[in-house]
Amino acid sequence: MKWDNSILRNYGWCREITDLETKTRRGRKVAAMAENGQVIGVGTGSSSYVGLCELAKRIHEEGLRVTVIPAAGEIYLACASQGIPVTSLSAARPDWCFDGADEIGANGDVVKGRGGGLYKEKLIIAAAKKRFIIAEDKKFVDRVGAVPVPVEVFTDAIHLVTEGLVALGAASVNLRLATSKDGPVITEHGNALLDCRFEKISDGMEREIKSIPGVIDSGLFQGYNFEFVRD
Ligand code: A5P
Repeated sequence: MKWDNSILRNYGWCREITDLETKTRRGRKVAAMAENGQVIGVGTGSSSYVGLCELAKRIHEEGLRVTVIPAAGEIYLACASQGIPVTSLSAARPDWCFDGADEIGANGDVVKGRGGGLYKEKLIIAAAKKRFIIAEDKKFVDRVGAVPVPVEVFTDAIHLVTEGLVALGAASVNLRLATSKDGPVITEHGNALLDCRFEKISDGMEREIKSIPGVIDSGLFQGYNFEFVRD
């Protein structure tokens, strides 16, 4: 039986999407790669959302049969709103995945997590056999580090983790505060986010951050062999 879908009928992105044309063009390229029977991991953020909308067009216009593993509630609801079948990482492995990014270094390092999602994104990216990033040209830089690296932290461990991050060379560590809720941002997994600026992001830093007790994961991605979608 189907719900009266009125609450989600007009569900769209939560704010105006910047660089919509580029995201749509590159999102369409990604959606064009989908084949019947595939399980596709879909990340978070507006670029992922736009890519998902392009996938939905193929599902409805061409009868494409795919299943999506959404990396966050926003994408899960977009799937529900657009009639896209979903599954989970515990039930299926993604054949491939696509996601957005905040900054991309020439060495392949990627920083993500502006929207608060990073942990499940990383699990999907690690599990997928191929990983595509939809990003505008302005996000490609020589070295990552101009945008802060978000670190998802068990809330009781914020002091312990801050000490560890400073020991790793963090020049600043800030607890991310919510704007439509009092207090800090609480992630979909019930944790806090620390936004860190480093003088230099060196090789192996993702692993070093992750090894601090209390860290769930970080928005730094090193060595994931991403394919960046360009025109
Ligand atoms: C969400 O937390 C992020 O990892 C996004 O994938 C990243 O911030 C890119 O977002 P946009 O596609 O909205 O730029």
